[in-house]
Amino acid sequence: MERLKPQGIVFDLDGVLVSTDELHYRGWKALADREGIPFDRTINHRLRGVSRMESLDIILEATKKAYTVAEKAEMATFKNSVYVRSLEAITPKDLPPGVPEVLAALKTRGLPIAIGSSSKNARLILGRLGLAETFDAVVDGNEITKSKPDPEVFLKAALRIGVAPALCLVVEDAVAGIRAAVTAGMIPVAIGDATHCPEARYRLTTILDIIDLI
Ligand code: BG6
Ligand code: MG
Repeated sequence: MERLKPQGIVFDLDGVLVSTDELHYRGWKALADREGIPFDRTINHRLRGVSRMESLDIILEATKKAYTVAEKAEMATFKNSVYVRSLEAITPKDLPPGVPEVLAALKTRGLPIAIGSSSKNARLILGRLGLAETFDAVVDGNEITKSKPDPEVFLKAALRIGVAPALCLVVEDAVAGIRAAVTAGMIPVAIGDATHCPEARYRLTTILDIIDLI
């Protein structure tokens, strides 16, 4: 792979540094089953990188029933409570193979690293993974007004680590995240589900492949 010599890296969290994407799926599935709404893993791909309320709107496309604002708020709270309960079981052992090694290598090289996540639970997850102090900046769903594919979260993260967007890699498993990186003028690097996205500039087979890009 071409060495890009980036000056910073912004990581998405869910589905990139930890498999919470599966736990999000199970939380939404619990809600969809409760409501009798069809929901499967294909629909779930569209929720990657997308905020909680926008995710709910995508799920509700499969039903003709109209829900009030209060009912929708209750549904999002229900899903989040199922999801947060499942996060209690997360420990540093849930870091996917290669993640500790990559983070250690980036630290050794002195490359600034940030989290750019749409999740309001990002800091909770980082704490459970033992990564609360690892990143130079954490920008999460509590700090943004628009979710991916809007570039807000990544531009904030680049600013926070003091790196020009064009010199920053963005590592993403979501098509919405790859598009956000493109709009931000950053370098979109895809892993997992996002690797089929034509806008990705690089595709990682494993997270360890990042080492070949820096
Ligand atoms: C993103 C996930 O990281 O966070 C989405 O990819 C999720 O699936 C979004 O909907 C919001 O997460 P939370 O934890 O704030 O509900
Ligand atoms: Mg993700």
